[in-house]
Amino acid sequence: MRQGASGAGEDRFERSLAYRQRALRHLAHGVSSTPRASQRPTPIAIARAEGAHLVDIDGARYVDYALGYGPLILGHTPPGVIAAVTAALSAGLRAASIHTDEAALAEAMAAAMPGAEMTGFVSTGTEAVLLALRIARATTGRTRIVKFRANYHGWSDTVGLGNAIGDDGPAALGQDPAASASVTLLDWGDAGEVEAALDSSYAAVLVEPAAINGGCFAPPPGFLERLRAATSRHGVVLIFDEVITGFRLGLGGAQGRYGVTPDLSVLGKALAAGLPIGAVSGTRAAMEVLASGRLLHRGTFNGNPLSMAAGLACLNELSRSAATIYPRMDAFAARLADRLNHAAAKAAVGLQARALGAALQIFAAASPVVTLRDTARVDRDATLRFTGELLREGVFALPRGLCYLSSAHDEDDILRTETAIDAAVARFAA
Ligand SMILES: Cc1ncc(COP(=O)(O)O)c(C=O)c1O
Repeated sequence: MRQGASGAGEDRFERSLAYRQRALRHLAHGVSSTPRASQRPTPIAIARAEGAHLVDIDGARYVDYALGYGPLILGHTPPGVIAAVTAALSAGLRAASIHTDEAALAEAMAAAMPGAEMTGFVSTGTEAVLLALRIARATTGRTRIVKFRANYHGWSDTVGLGNAIGDDGPAALGQDPAASASVTLLDWGDAGEVEAALDSSYAAVLVEPAAINGGCFAPPPGFLERLRAATSRHGVVLIFDEVITGFRLGLGGAQGRYGVTPDLSVLGKALAAGLPIGAVSGTRAAMEVLASGRLLHRGTFNGNPLSMAAGLACLNELSRSAATIYPRMDAFAARLADRLNHAAAKAAVGLQARALGAALQIFAAASPVVTLRDTARVDRDATLRFTGELLREGVFALPRGLCYLSSAHDEDDILRTETAIDAAVARFAA
C-alpha cells in the first residue's frame, strides 16, 4: 500500500478522478455536502478506514485529520464503539422506539458537562441549533438573537448568515431573508459590543465559545464571562454552540475548559464518535419548557438506538481516558502547528497554523493571522492548494485547512505528518 505518493502525477488519483466523473452524472455536485467537493487536486473517494488512517479507492493510505469533519474523536474503528453499535444492531433497528440508552446517554452527558443537567436529542447539529433557539424563544417570549460573525451554526435559513469575516450576507442561495431578520450580527470576542447591543428584547445570544470554524481562536480573556453576565442581566438565554468544542476541548467541552456555564449547549459531532447525532443540553431551568412537554419536540430519527449506543460507548471511553488522551491530542496539535510555522518561515512562504486543543487551522496568508478579524486576509484558494499538497504527501486535512486530532493518532503518525508538512511546504513554495 502506498503512503501518499510524493512527486507522483495525477494518475495516482486515477480511480477517484473516474469516480468523480461517474458521480457527477446522477449525484448532485458529485458529493453529499458541498465543502467535500473543494478538495484538491480532486475529491478523494474512500474505500475503508482504520484507526487514524484512510485508504482511498486507488489504494493510497492517508493519516486522517479530517476525521469526518470532527466527530471521529476516537478514530475510525474504536473497539468499544464498534462493539456497542454491533450489539445495538443485533437487537433490531428499533427506529423511533423508546429505549433505555436514551436516558443513559443523557445521564452520561450530565456527568461530563457542567451545563448538561437535562438533554433532548435530535439527529444533526443544525437541528440542535434550531431546537435551542426555539427553546430560548419559547422561554423568553422574545424573538431577537445575537449571532457572531464567522461563527458557524449549521445550514438553516435562521442563522445561516455572516459566516465569514467581510461577508455579512446569507451563506447560501435560496435562503429566506425573513427567516434571519431577527438576527443581530456582532463581532466575536468583543464583549463591549455585546454589552452595548443587548437589551430585554433579545431571546438568545448564540456563540461558538471557541471560534474553531473561524480558525481555531480561543475566547479573549473575559469574553465568555462578560457574555454570561450581560445575558443574565437582561434575562437572555446564553447558548454555547459546542458542536465542535463539545468532548473535543476536553470532556466538559469549552464550558469545562473556560469555566463559564451557559443556559443551553448545542452538541453533536464527537458526542456519538461518528454516528449522526445532535443534542440540546441545559440547566433544568433553561430546559423546563422542553422537559415539561410544553414545547413540541419532534423527529423520526431522534434518539436512534445506534447513535445512542455509540454515544454511550464514546463517553464511557472518553471519561475513562480523559486524563491521558486530551493532553496528548493537544500536544500533537501544537507540535504540528509549530512544525508548519517553522517550515513556512524557513521557506519564506505565506503559510501559518494555529492550534487550539485537539484542533489546528492552517491558513495561506501573506501576513500573520492573529485575530478572527485577520481572517479577511486569508487566501482561501491558496489554502486549498496547500491542503492539496498535503494530500499528495499522504495527509488528509479538511480542504479549508482545519485539522482535528483523535485518540487514535500516535507518535508514528505525527512523525510522518511532520515529514509530509516539510515536503508540502517545499512544493507549495516552488
Ligand atoms: C459549531 C457548529 N455548529 C453546528 C454545526 C452543524 O452541524 P451538522 O453539520 O451536524 O448539522 C456545525 C457543523 O460543522 C458546527 O461546526
